[in-house]
Amino acid sequence: MKGLLTLKSLSIDQIKQIINLAIDFKNGLKVDFTGKKMVTLFYENSTRTQYSFQMAMLNLGITPLSFNLAGSSVYKGETLYDTVRTFESLGVDGVVIRHTQDVYYKELDPIQIPIFNGGDGTSDHPTQTLLDLMTIYEEFGRYEGIKVALVGDIAHSRVAHGNAEVMKRLGMEIFVSGPEQYNDHTCPYIDLDDAVKTCDVINLLRVQFERHKEDMNITKEEYLQKYGMTTERVSRMKKNSIIMHPAPVNRGIEIESDVVECERSRIYKQMTNGVFVRMAAITMALRGELRY
Ligand code: NCD
Repeated sequence: MKGLLTLKSLSIDQIKQIINLAIDFKNGLKVDFTGKKMVTLFYENSTRTQYSFQMAMLNLGITPLSFNLAGSSVYKGETLYDTVRTFESLGVDGVVIRHTQDVYYKELDPIQIPIFNGGDGTSDHPTQTLLDLMTIYEEFGRYEGIKVALVGDIAHSRVAHGNAEVMKRLGMEIFVSGPEQYNDHTCPYIDLDDAVKTCDVINLLRVQFERHKEDMNITKEEYLQKYGMTTERVSRMKKNSIIMHPAPVNRGIEIESDVVECERSRIYKQMTNGVFVRMAAITMALRGELRY
C-alpha cells in the first residue's frame, strides 16, 4: 500500500525525512503537482485535519475534492472499500480518510493509489504526530531527552496513542497525567503539578465526550482545577517549556480560556505546521517514497 497509514511502520529516518521536507516547505520550497486530484473522505467530523489537507493540496497545485458523507451512497450501505475503489476508478490520485474504526485501512489493501490516514478510531493520527514533532523540533532543535506529559483523556485519544509510540522511539521521555478512569497505563504517571515543573512539553488532550460510554463523574470546573491547564499552573511552568493541544479545545475543561493563546501556547503554530507536514507526506507518497 502507498501513502501514510501509521508511523509505526516507518523508521525514525523516514519520519525525520518527512519533517525535514515539511521544514523546507515552510522555508519556501515549491513543488508542483498540477493536474492531480485528491479526495478527503471523512467519516468523522473534522475542521483542522480535513481543511489542512485541502490547503496542502492547493499549495501543491493538486485539486481537492470533498466527499459529502450525508449525500453519499454510504447511507445505501456502500462499504469503505467500495467507496475508495470508486474514487480510484474515477481517476483520483490519492485519498485522505478519517474513520471511526481502528486500523480501517486493513481492508483497503488492493487499492493502488496513496491513502493518507486522517485518524482511525482511538488508534492513530500520523499527520497530527508529525506536526507535533515538527513543533517540538522547531522549539528545542532536538527530540532526544525532551520530556513530554500527555495530559487528559488518554484512553480515548488517538493523538496520545500515536504520539507516545513515536516519541518513545525518538528518545523522548513520555508521561501521562489526568483522571485515573482515562489512564491506559502505557506510560508512567505524573501528577500535573509535577509535570508543569519538570516537563518541556505539556501536550493537552481534548476530553472526548463523544466516545464516552459513561458520564465523567466530575464537574467541568473540578476537572479544570484537578487536571486542566489553568493560568496559575502556567505561572509555575518550567523555563522555556511549551503547551500543545491538537484542538478543538474544550475551553474551561482541559484548558482555561486565557491559556489557549498565552505566550507558552503553540496551539495555532501546530495548525500552521500541519499544512507543511501534509504537503511533505503527499509529496513523498506521490513520488512513491512512502509505501508499506
Ligand atoms: C484530534 C482528532 O480528531 O483526533 N483533532 C485533530 O485532528 N486536530 C483530536 C481531537 O479531536 O480531540
